Amino acid sequence: MFINNDVILPDTDPALRKKCEPVKLPLSKEDKDLLMDMMQYIRNSHDPVLKEKYNLRGAVGLAAPQIGVLKQMIAVGIPYDDDETLEFALVNPKIISNSMQHSYLKMGESCLSVPVDHDGYVKRYARITVKGYDALQDKEITVRLSGYEAIVLQHEIDHLSGILYYDHINKNNPLTPIPNALIIE
Ligand code: NI
Repeated sequence: MFINNDVILPDTDPALRKKCEPVKLPLSKEDKDLLMDMMQYIRNSHDPVLKEKYNLRGAVGLAAPQIGVLKQMIAVGIPYDDDETLEFALVNPKIISNSMQHSYLKMGESCLSVPVDHDGYVKRYARITVKGYDALQDKEITVRLSGYEAIVLQHEIDHLSGILYYDHINKNNPLTPIPNALIIE
């Protein structure tokens, strides 16, 4: 399945609010192919030429329900330094521990399924430990993440429970700083 913006569902679609099913391991060819197609979207979206050619929005993460597949699978690609990217193609990811401290992105979050950005601070955990099967490494992994990476993983894992980033914004005071939270620029 070739994924571009035309097949990514908007937040008005009921699929974005459903709970996703765990995926059977070892991965079926169908599941693996789909997850790799999701990964390809992320990689293509970082390439200025392909981004333009295929009509993509730049992205660091994509979850299966965003293309109407209610399975616990996420693709993540976070560029760092000049030409390095932190990548995960995770199946059945779970946050197994989190810090007491919170964090949020100073500029707020955005999502391929949310056409109009919602302003406001999205309360996240500052540090998390995630466990899941990584199809890129073909093994179960446990990773500790902080900063921007931790926020991206929380955003994507939320999608698997039908939760969208703006659900975490304080409705009455969207831009009130969150006490003791790390602010990520
Ligand atoms: Ni999203």
